[in-house]
Amino acid sequence: MNIVEIINKKRLKKHLTKEEIKFVIDGYINNTITDYQMSSLLMAICINGMNKEETANLTDAMYRSGDVIDLSRLNGRKIDKHSTGGVGDKTTLIVLPLVASCGVIAPKMSGRGLGFTGGTIDKLEAIPGFHTNINIDSFINEVNTIGLALASQTGNLVPADKKIYALRDVTGTVESIPLIASSIMSKKLASGADTIVIDLKVGNGALMKDIESARKLGHAMVDIGKAHNRKVVCVLTDMNQPLGNAIGNALEVKEAIDCLNNNGPDDITNLAIVLSSVMVSYGLNISFEKANDMVLENLKNKKAYHKFIELVKYQGGTLEEMKVSDTVISVKSKETGFVTAIETDTLGEIVRKLGGGRYQKEDKIDHSVGLVLSKKIGDYVMEDEEIVKIYVGSKDVAIDEVLNCFKIEMLNKNEHNLIKEMIR
Ligand code: URA
Repeated sequence: MNIVEIINKKRLKKHLTKEEIKFVIDGYINNTITDYQMSSLLMAICINGMNKEETANLTDAMYRSGDVIDLSRLNGRKIDKHSTGGVGDKTTLIVLPLVASCGVIAPKMSGRGLGFTGGTIDKLEAIPGFHTNINIDSFINEVNTIGLALASQTGNLVPADKKIYALRDVTGTVESIPLIASSIMSKKLASGADTIVIDLKVGNGALMKDIESARKLGHAMVDIGKAHNRKVVCVLTDMNQPLGNAIGNALEVKEAIDCLNNNGPDDITNLAIVLSSVMVSYGLNISFEKANDMVLENLKNKKAYHKFIELVKYQGGTLEEMKVSDTVISVKSKETGFVTAIETDTLGEIVRKLGGGRYQKEDKIDHSVGLVLSKKIGDYVMEDEEIVKIYVGSKDVAIDEVLNCFKIEMLNKNEHNLIKEMIR
């Protein structure tokens, strides 16, 4: 087998065999295939695509490239939740304790922020003392003791994805459905869960900008799940504005706690309820309606909130010591009208500039900074009325840059629906 023949085959729109795909992944990891050869193949895949079988084989070769977590020591169905990434997305912090409070096993490995979107691990580290770097035995013990655990991904989980993702990022080959689907699913398969619920974001703050491409990605991931004997459910949800009102690590933890206390914004609370109900229905093998009743009950009686507090204590965190910046700028609208659009990715970038995200892997995050939106799409705002608060740390940000993210018009064109459809 040789890499040039394989590249040519894909250039000519032919299908690659399982052996050829494994040869490529193994060779790239062992450095016998170079970056320029891999770039060329990735571009051919971007242009000519891959069929279901090739995509499943690519995922298979990738997920076996490093550690594979064995969760068989946990009794019962293991459910994982994944989000394709969005601005202000703190859903995991609400969903995990919620499903665990209903008796569903929730072992979760999470990542750090990527680009303008934040990561669950960075948010949790806003809580002083909270440690996320736990070994697999402690992780399993924790799940067996309190029903859930949230850890950062181990160093050697899917090294093939780490290497290929970094190359895609700089070769214009990120936007390819088979490459995205295999990248996400290889990490999910290696994390060991048997059911995976994916919150697939669609909109200007997400990788998938339109519903058609989101559908294709959803079907590709469901098919990969079928080929590997895992149940995959994709819930397509809106990312044309931030989720909830808060963006920034400590601010998002606070907002998640508000939701668990029935006092959070409607959009994020509703999304958390839907995702949790799907997870509970699969985890306990009951109908969606029954699961939904349990979820609502455990929000109301605060069992989910107490589960969150149990998680924080178990992993060493002290919530009372979590800080948000006390330098707060109230940004006022210069116009009167309805908010009809929000540049979600730019708001995410602004929080990164404030110090709430990283430009380089080694950057230290300022957990206390961020934005809290006072107005969202469909809201009416008057000239001089507050539209957003900026929580500032040591780095400045231009107020006009924040203001320009909000489009204000006299006509309310709100056709926004948060939960669009489900693919399973
Ligand atoms: N998230 C991933 O993990 N991989 C991709 O390719 C895109 C989003």
